[in-house]
Amino acid sequence: MSTSDAERLLVTAALPYANGPIHIGHLAGAYLPADLFVRYQRLKGEDVAFICGSDEMGVAILMRAIREDRTPEDIIDTYHPQIRENFERFGMSFDYYGRTSSDLHQETTQEFFRVLDEQEGFKLKTEEQLYDPEAEMFLADRFVTGTCPVCGFEEAYGDQCEQCGSSLSPTELEQPRSTLTDAAPELRETTHWYLPLEEMQPDLEEWIDTHPEWKNNVLGQIQSWFNDGLKDRAITRDVPWGVPVPPDVAERHDLDAEGKVIYVWFDAPIGYISATKEWAMQDGAPTKWKAYWQDEDTRLVHFIGKDNIVFHCLMFPSMLMQHGDYILPDNVPANEFLNLEGEKLSTSRGWAVWLHEYLEDFGADRGPDLLRYALATTLPETKDADFSWEGFQNRVNGELADVLGNFVNRTLTFAHRYFDGEVPPLKDPSDADEHVLDALSAAPEDIGQAYDNYRMREAVFETMALARTGNKYFNDTEPWHTRETDPQACANTIHLSLQLCASLSILFEPVIPDAAQRLRDMLRLADVRSSTPADAPDGALGWGDAAEPILEAGHTLGAPDILFEKLEDDTIEAQTEKLRERAAQRSDSTSDSDMDYANLKDNIDFDDFTKLDLRVGTVTAAEPVPDADKLLRLEVDLGFEERQILAGVAEQMAPEEVEGLQVVVVANMAPKEMFGLQSEGMVLMAEEADGTFVPVSADAANGSVVR
Ligand code: MF3
Ligand code: ZN
Repeated sequence: MSTSDAERLLVTAALPYANGPIHIGHLAGAYLPADLFVRYQRLKGEDVAFICGSDEMGVAILMRAIREDRTPEDIIDTYHPQIRENFERFGMSFDYYGRTSSDLHQETTQEFFRVLDEQEGFKLKTEEQLYDPEAEMFLADRFVTGTCPVCGFEEAYGDQCEQCGSSLSPTELEQPRSTLTDAAPELRETTHWYLPLEEMQPDLEEWIDTHPEWKNNVLGQIQSWFNDGLKDRAITRDVPWGVPVPPDVAERHDLDAEGKVIYVWFDAPIGYISATKEWAMQDGAPTKWKAYWQDEDTRLVHFIGKDNIVFHCLMFPSMLMQHGDYILPDNVPANEFLNLEGEKLSTSRGWAVWLHEYLEDFGADRGPDLLRYALATTLPETKDADFSWEGFQNRVNGELADVLGNFVNRTLTFAHRYFDGEVPPLKDPSDADEHVLDALSAAPEDIGQAYDNYRMREAVFETMALARTGNKYFNDTEPWHTRETDPQACANTIHLSLQLCASLSILFEPVIPDAAQRLRDMLRLADVRSSTPADAPDGALGWGDAAEPILEAGHTLGAPDILFEKLEDDTIEAQTEKLRERAAQRSDSTSDSDMDYANLKDNIDFDDFTKLDLRVGTVTAAEPVPDADKLLRLEVDLGFEERQILAGVAEQMAPEEVEGLQVVVVANMAPKEMFGLQSEGMVLMAEEADGTFVPVSADAANGSVVR
């Protein structure tokens, strides 16, 4: 279905977790593309509801609270207003921005849960799960770490191994430990509600088959989930934070709801529904939300990042299908990830550009448009994309300033200087003039097609191409010459250049709404439909009107002004410098709250320590051990003798890296045979959080005692 066939649009952008500030990766993933799409649709006159809000009831919030020794309420009350404000500053034009801690959301979620339960839409399973006897709590998801059964990574989480990406369940971990107390968990029985995705797979497949038009990256992921076979998913948890399981529903099964909450990926998407309800209430039409969620004539679109695909394309739709009263998404245009300066964004490493910091450096007035444009041209629509500060500078200086800004400025300056600040008439258009009229008449349709098909970057490129056409036309027709040789040709150039400016002020509105408004002020062009939720005045101009000349001959123009200032090299260097400094600081700071530190062991006394014989030695040779992926065979010179030591560093270090190192050796380690070789000692290594090994070295004579 294309937009024009639908009566109304409901557009959602993934609800961000209210457990940290928003950065450019978030914007590029879901929010900016959604906002571009929505603003375009509003300009076209479509009936749109654009819904978002904070995701506040999940384990991620609880984890942060525990780590910082705060309450979950405190966490969400800190970040929710911050996130909302930053979105507003960057022009995210939501009709409603809610939060999932609201009463209405809790009720809506519980009611949804109740309906599914009554329709026997869940399975109940009683199973043994990990329980922390010290914290007196079941250990869901991230509350347990242990060794990944797939790749052997020792810090895998209960729901996922971040090293190999396997999705896990807590009981699959080897040597599990509680992240709360470091205690070894015990197994206890507990009962949970499961979404029967395995049974639902045929229905889901049939439905996905009706959407061959979805983006390849989305369909690809869905297909691989189908190929693996969908597994039932537990949608309740035993944790002390979340939307409570309704007691009456538990009673139906002779269970106690005490301590049980609904899993965040069940409640959060329902947040889209509850936020729409709250929006309707705020608008004084409490039932109007229904049309957006339940009328087949509504086109529902979810904008998300790629890590949310399974939840929006399979899990939430299966909930909606089972419930029965709701429409299903018409499209889920998920983006891939944005990198920064060639590296993965990482909040813990400080490798990110946070919106609030950007605003401090680039200004809350002029800053947002620059970032919107630079990100819109770099969206990771089909594959991961890279944001660099140099690229940002090039977009701003080379495109916004040199192409659009320059075209607007020379046109308006010329009109003021030689046409008394009025729009001159167009007469007997030349071929070049006709060419511009053609470009103008095709632009809204072409650009609109790109938006309608979720190709935002293309839409933005095409919009800038129209400004380029304008610049070229101005150059080619040389009004500074024709002013003397052929005054009407000169008038035609200025007339049409002004028309291009007027149309660009509409076509650029979704991308750079502030600059577009300033451009309209310069042109004294009022009565353009708003791209925000504000009501349109009757007869206001919209998207399609940009296809025709808008300004009447004789119309009086406002004063020209600089649309975009260029960014100095210093400004840009300061940003890259800031990034690198922060990343360096984080990597050697000891107060990084996101680093996982191994817990301290019990105290020992000095006598225990003196049992260790630590010596300085030099690695004189290193080579792999056949069949032992993890081991290197080292020859170590201890001064008084040579030792053969097997070290478990082969996955982290190459033999060449180890050879020649001066290291500290446990010299009285009982010899041990491995893979048919004797190991006569142990080489000390410091293991960093990411698994990197750094040798413990001492610049001292071989054989020296370390004490
Ligand atoms: N909070 C989730 C994330 O940041 C997204 C939730 S989207 C919703 O990955 F549909 F669940 F709301
Ligand atoms: Zn793994």
